[in-house]
Amino acid sequence: MIQIKGLSFLYNDSKEPALNNINLQIGEGEFVGIVGPTGAGKSTLALCLNGVIPHFLHGEFYGEVKVDGKDTVENDCARIAYSVGSVFQDPEAQIVSTRVEDEIAFGLENLNIPRIEIAARIKESLEMTGISDLRDYSTTQLSGGQKQRVAIASAIALRPKILVLDEPTSELDPKGSLDIFNTLQKLNKEYSITIVVIEQKIQLLTEYCSRLVVMEKGSVLLDGPTRNVLANQEILQKIGVNSSPVTRLAYMLKKEGLYQGEFPINVEEAYLVVSKVLSEKRR
Ligand SMILES: Nc1ncnc2c1ncn2[C@@H]1O[C@H](COP(=O)(O)OP(=O)(O)OP(=O)(O)O)[C@@H](O)[C@H]1O
Ligand SMILES: [Mg+2]
Repeated sequence: MIQIKGLSFLYNDSKEPALNNINLQIGEGEFVGIVGPTGAGKSTLALCLNGVIPHFLHGEFYGEVKVDGKDTVENDCARIAYSVGSVFQDPEAQIVSTRVEDEIAFGLENLNIPRIEIAARIKESLEMTGISDLRDYSTTQLSGGQKQRVAIASAIALRPKILVLDEPTSELDPKGSLDIFNTLQKLNKEYSITIVVIEQKIQLLTEYCSRLVVMEKGSVLLDGPTRNVLANQEILQKIGVNSSPVTRLAYMLKKEGLYQGEFPINVEEAYLVVSKVLSEKRR
């Protein structure tokens, strides 16, 4: 679904490359989390997936990016938008209409989708994101989480195969963040949409993503199944990627030689790890 080969990018006015020889392949139906310290190049990578780079933001571009088989240099952003839906960090910047329904229709009208089809797509995307009741709301009266979901609904109305989200929960409380990730999980499981999400909240990535990509200084430092990536605690701590309490607990038990198994990714699994360690100690 996503094929990145030898991608390097240097913004016009900077000296250091923002991306440095990225190689990444993401298959259909994957739910991938991207994490890394500030300035690592995460947002730049997202902009390469939706074609904003190189079509709107200019610089030196090397390598190849293909999404859904489309080369992002040869295809313009409108064509790429049929395959890749984007949700940016700040929903305010993305929302252009005053009514929720019009906001979702906006992208569809730009692609010259027939009226009757637009009505069906609005209904469908509102249902998929669980906000059918917001259809007639003014976009100015929405909460941060509702705005994020309207942005997601607008993106999926174009029926993309891939959804790329850059810190979609940055302005949300824990409950709002969970709602967004539950929505993403549903889109991934029920509609097989490939999800690539940049996120600082490692706990959310740990619980929801099947694969983690860790970026640092424009490169991919670690990439693999979530558990395997989390096992590299020394590296993650060194670059300042904090870990969830369940990961830290398992790491400490491992360091003390009390536990050798796989890294737990949620509280239930951590409970089993602790029970196992305690029962072995008692013996
Ligand atoms: N429009 C731009 N023009 C010039 N340099 C830029 C531009 N946008 C980003 N950069 C630089 O590119 C590098 C990567 O930035 P990017 O925003 O991709 O990092 P990030 O991992 O998303 O960081 P954050 O976690 O802070 O969002 C940084 O050194 C940044 O200063
Ligand atoms: Mg960023």
